[in-house]
Amino acid sequence: MFDFNGKTVLITGAAAGLGFSCAESFAKAGARVALVDISAEAVQQAAAQLDSETLAITADVSCADQVQAMVDQVVGAWGGLDIAVNNAGISSTLEPVAETSAADFDRVMAVNLKGVWLSMRAELNQMLRQNRGTIVNMASALSQRVFPGASFYVSSKFAVAGLTRTAAVEYAETPIRINAVCPGNVTTPLLESTIEDLDALASLHAMKRLGTPQEVANAVMFLASDLSSFNTGTLLPVDGGWTAQ
Ligand SMILES: NC(=O)c1ccc[n+]([C@@H]2O[C@H](COP(=O)([O-])OP(=O)(O)OC[C@H]3O[C@@H](n4cnc5c(N)ncnc54)[C@H](O)[C@@H]3O)[C@@H](O)[C@H]2O)c1
Repeated sequence: MFDFNGKTVLITGAAAGLGFSCAESFAKAGARVALVDISAEAVQQAAAQLDSETLAITADVSCADQVQAMVDQVVGAWGGLDIAVNNAGISSTLEPVAETSAADFDRVMAVNLKGVWLSMRAELNQMLRQNRGTIVNMASALSQRVFPGASFYVSSKFAVAGLTRTAAVEYAETPIRINAVCPGNVTTPLLESTIEDLDALASLHAMKRLGTPQEVANAVMFLASDLSSFNTGTLLPVDGGWTAQ
């Protein structure tokens, strides 16, 4: 359906879940894919499963030096960066605000917000130099609505939405487009490790089911492709009608 032949794609958090599904999908559509993850072993294994030219890069997106090095490695290997998917993210401990800790705040914000900002900054500098490129951030339905008990996660995703829209407007008159996907609940290792009752979670969506990683990857590919050439600053829900209710 999509054709990314000749394109270079960098995906953070690509060893598992939504990031890996995106990596598989871009690879099937002909792209060269740089998989980035904090887990060295997992990212090597993930890259080895793909039938396309890949790079397996170990980096922690919350560390500025490592983020700059990941972009430099892609550009050094392939000469440019066409598409960046800033997907790496973690969940917060589920507890009401009065019981939350500074350590958990710092942990969640470091990956979910600082990681996306650092990635966007390094990617944008490269994309401005080459005068082309598109960025897709992995936000969440929880960038639009709340989930009691997940205040840090929700706040980090509201912030990713703000960062996406601000940067999109800043660079709207360049060829660089910046959008975000806002998934509802999708079966991944992150969700399975955070929530015990997945049936109850499924019932929150108007469609009364969880999403699949492929459904999210499809939306990411749309925003990364020329089919969305008039989209920038878009926060695209992929949530089975959760936010529509
Ligand atoms: N699963 C869902 O229902 C859902 C819904 C909405 C949004 N999201 C968002 O989608 C993204 C991916 O979620 P997932 O469910 O696939 O998670 P996951 O835990 O299944 O996979 C996340 C991957 O990111 C990697 N990672 C974690 N911290 C990192 C860091 N500091 N640097 C680099 N890599 C790191 C992990 O090693 C893992 O491979 C996250 O941003 C999450 O908030 C998920």
